[in-house]
Amino acid sequence: MVILGLETSCDETSAAVLEGKEKPIILSNIVATSLPLHTKTGGIIPENAARQQVNFMIPVIEKALKESRTKLPDIDAIAVTYGPGLIGSLLVGVETAKTLSYVFKKPIIPINHLIGHIYANFVDNSEVAFPAIALVVSGGHTDLVLMRQHGSIEWLGGTRDDAAGEAFDKIGRLLNLPYPAGPIIEKLAKKGNPKAFPFPRPLIDSQDFDFSFSGLKTAVFRSVILRQKAEESRSFANAQDDNFVYNVSASVQQAIIDVLISKTLKAAKKYKVKSILLGGGVAANQKLRDDFELNAKRYLLDAEIFCPPKNLCTDNAAMIAAAALYNFNPVHFSKVTANPQLYFD
Ligand code: KG4
Ligand code: ZN
Repeated sequence: MVILGLETSCDETSAAVLEGKEKPIILSNIVATSLPLHTKTGGIIPENAARQQVNFMIPVIEKALKESRTKLPDIDAIAVTYGPGLIGSLLVGVETAKTLSYVFKKPIIPINHLIGHIYANFVDNSEVAFPAIALVVSGGHTDLVLMRQHGSIEWLGGTRDDAAGEAFDKIGRLLNLPYPAGPIIEKLAKKGNPKAFPFPRPLIDSQDFDFSFSGLKTAVFRSVILRQKAEESRSFANAQDDNFVYNVSASVQQAIIDVLISKTLKAAKKYKVKSILLGGGVAANQKLRDDFELNAKRYLLDAEIFCPPKNLCTDNAAMIAAAALYNFNPVHFSKVTANPQLYFD
């Protein structure tokens, strides 16, 4: 079985060819990003992202086919992200998939982007045992789900306000860091003290599996204001203290990580799972990955922790094709519609 995957939900345009054997093998996974454009504007302007999707879509598909030495008539199905995401961006992938489906008479498998992030764990990996808890942490989402088997996903909880990645990005703005700030905060945090600022761990002790990160932003904002006032009251010019940014980065990163880990391990214990799956851009954070391993051992959890390789944590089409291989529910192209508000069922 050979699947062509397409992913265009936000600012990455990606096409991948996956071969499904015992475990899905990547034959190609091409990702083009319009990120430099969004760094200039300090965040994503949906219109700009959609225009770049149009520019990148065909060259990216051509490259993915060429690298995998596959021709369109050879593929068995097309997997495409149909939501959630930015409507303009989603439409480019969905309409491209529908056109290819019509011309080459290939079935389409519409894939939920969030489920795609979970399936990044199944690329080149057949070790995942069920039941599993999956934590999806991206720029737009923070969700905990229980997966009893392929195709059976129960939503346990999610963020009530900002997503974890969104918190990193908004806090980055307060610190004058470029977008997206998550990877930069991770780098700066290495030089800081995670205990320097006692930032809150919102909802860490609540009985549910919900998250809330917007209060952290306010706490950081207060620290920034206090810092500015302290600097203003000083008479010497060189009041800038690099350690401030390092320490805020380390402290806020740790606060986010502590909450994510606490809630996920609580869910893992409650449902006696065999695997914990991480996914989404924030799962590329090495401190998060390391702390997960450390804490799981500390709590003597039997569950094995899986993190996709970092290039499969951020948006890519290989994860979409992998989700399609394990959930092979082909539909006629006329039935596929982009849904920006799509969530877990
Ligand atoms: O999954 P993704 O590529 O796109 C969405 O579906 O949203 O996630 C992007 C998010 C951004 O908010 C970015 O700041 C965050 O993931 N991110 C990170 C790291 N790498 C990306 N956050 C923390 N540490 C990282 N290393
Ligand atoms: Zn994503």
